[in-house]
Amino acid sequence: MTKSPRLIIATNNHDKLAEISDILKGTNIEILSAKDFSDFPDVEETGETLTDNALLKARSVWEKYHLPCLGDDTGLEIDFLNGAPGVYSSRYAGPDATYDDNCNKLLGELKSRNPASRRARFRTVMAFIDPDGHQHIAEGTIEGEIIHEKRGSNGFGYDPVFYVPDKNKTLAEMEAAEKNKISHRHNALVKIMPVILMKLLK
Ligand code: IMP
Repeated sequence: MTKSPRLIIATNNHDKLAEISDILKGTNIEILSAKDFSDFPDVEETGETLTDNALLKARSVWEKYHLPCLGDDTGLEIDFLNGAPGVYSSRYAGPDATYDDNCNKLLGELKSRNPASRRARFRTVMAFIDPDGHQHIAEGTIEGEIIHEKRGSNGFGYDPVFYVPDKNKTLAEMEAAEKNKISHRHNALVKIMPVILMKLLK
């Protein structure tokens, strides 16, 4: 029997790990993550771009275990705020901000703004380090707008305020399976997947 190839997902975030595992579940790749190691690196997101941070996460895991790994970083970009909070999305309302704090701050910033000012997108950058230590980068987005109040209780982060016009729902009103077919992470993963499969199954 051939052994399944292993891929470490370089995140401590259970929500993201669940989404990425769901998207990869049709493959025979064995997913490893922080919970499979006692000394998993806790990486500070000190980069100035999503790509910097995705690489920081993936590289730190590669340096430690020398196993193929996937790091990602996501930002919410609001056109009216010139792309903010972007790379600072997790800390938008302060260093210890909760998901709710961040959503509330955003709703406050956009209060009484018109629909055009509410245009937004999630952008995910995925960094894959292959078995030879070479890096590969892919990016995925989803377009939407910030609504006036939180709606829905699924998902995480800014999902309750991110409305997807094509679906007439916020991301938090979608079941995981529905979000995972159209999400920024899904779109980035679809782009990097052929490289992962080629490098892991060669
Ligand atoms: P991270 O650095 O990739 O963990 O993402 C930064 C922040 O963006 C997170 O703390 C969340 O607030 C937000 N975020 C990332 N992905 C999503 C998503 O799929 N939905 C809603 N918010 C997200």
